Amino acid sequence: MINTTQRIQSLNPHFFAMLETKITLLQKNGCDIIRLDVGSPDMPPASHITAMLSKAASRPDAHGYQNCRGTQALRQAWAEMYRRVYAVDLDPEQEVLPLMGSKEGIFNLIQAYIDPGDVVLVPDPGYMTYQRATLFAGGEPYAMPLLPECGFLPDLQAIPRDIIRRAKMLWLNYPSNPTAATASVGFLTEAVEFARQHGLLLCHDAAYTQVTFESYRAPSLLAVPDAQEVALEVNSLSKSHNMAGWRLGAAVGNAQALNALYRVKANADNGHFLPILEAAVAAMTGEQDWIRDRNEIYRLRRDVVVQALHEVGLACMQPKASLYVWFAIPIGWTSVAFTDLLLEKAQVSLTPGPVFGERGEGYIRLAFTEPLELVTEAMRRVVSVVGEL
Ligand SMILES: Cc1ncc(COP(=O)(O)O)c(C=O)c1O
Repeated sequence: MINTTQRIQSLNPHFFAMLETKITLLQKNGCDIIRLDVGSPDMPPASHITAMLSKAASRPDAHGYQNCRGTQALRQAWAEMYRRVYAVDLDPEQEVLPLMGSKEGIFNLIQAYIDPGDVVLVPDPGYMTYQRATLFAGGEPYAMPLLPECGFLPDLQAIPRDIIRRAKMLWLNYPSNPTAATASVGFLTEAVEFARQHGLLLCHDAAYTQVTFESYRAPSLLAVPDAQEVALEVNSLSKSHNMAGWRLGAAVGNAQALNALYRVKANADNGHFLPILEAAVAAMTGEQDWIRDRNEIYRLRRDVVVQALHEVGLACMQPKASLYVWFAIPIGWTSVAFTDLLLEKAQVSLTPGPVFGERGEGYIRLAFTEPLELVTEAMRRVVSVVGEL
């Protein structure tokens, strides 16, 4: 048998792969599990987007290789969406690079910049790809604690000097997975200043910026004046337009960093199927009102979840954005034990906080990515199990 690399051997098994096995077994035994663990949108994109995909797919000239920079129309569509949604001007040729989903961009950007021994500043709890991609590159992730008393924002001034000296990149993600916290333009401005002062590449993961509730609008990091001198943002249609399976994202901002990322990508992928790119243009430039209606559906689910958790004394913030509620578990439990209890007794599958880093201990993430009736039933079961403790 041929050995895999040490890089691969040193990675822990992926939590969701293990959960999948556990749930399949429970389902085989007749359990009716409600899955609120993965943050995959359950609703389809608007019909004008899928119609464009079908129409383009039936054209005989649409089936060849594409460049991983995408088409000019696609880059322009990203720029147009940035102007409309975030009031940010981008040069579509220099400041937009399409991605096969933002996860790919995060992973490859880190491969472009990190040598063994380099430090990457990552949020804890946070989306795990920042940390895992750093380990893949032989780099050292430094976990910046996100604490409730600081609104789940990192205290940049508390990062030790010797860490900052070895650091090359700083990753932020607001609205946040998993905490659902949001960041103000004031905080993002502070982060840009910090990156400038310490010679860091500031990377903002904006995957949830269009999943917002009531009057809240999430800012782009690039709305900070001159941010693109030191920063870039990765964005995605996965959550904004219910297109997670389509693998459509973009890196926008600092042209030099986008070029470094392109040099990795040009060796690894040949871009998307052209009809997917054409449908993405329709998604970003066509009618957008459906996104507001979709967010209202999420808001109703969020309200059911927050109300039920409060009813049984489980503390959580009311999210202004994202697909998640991040709630504190009762004292005396670990996150994994409490998640297992809810899976076994309530037959509701959730994600234990430590999946997102050590500072996730004491918390569980709930994704309201099922229809309202199922979310309501899940919360009825959770309330009943917690009420009996
Ligand atoms: C914070 C965050 N970033 C990036 C991604 C990856 O999204 P994409 O589908 O664009 O690769 C996710 C997916 O859940 C996420 O939660």
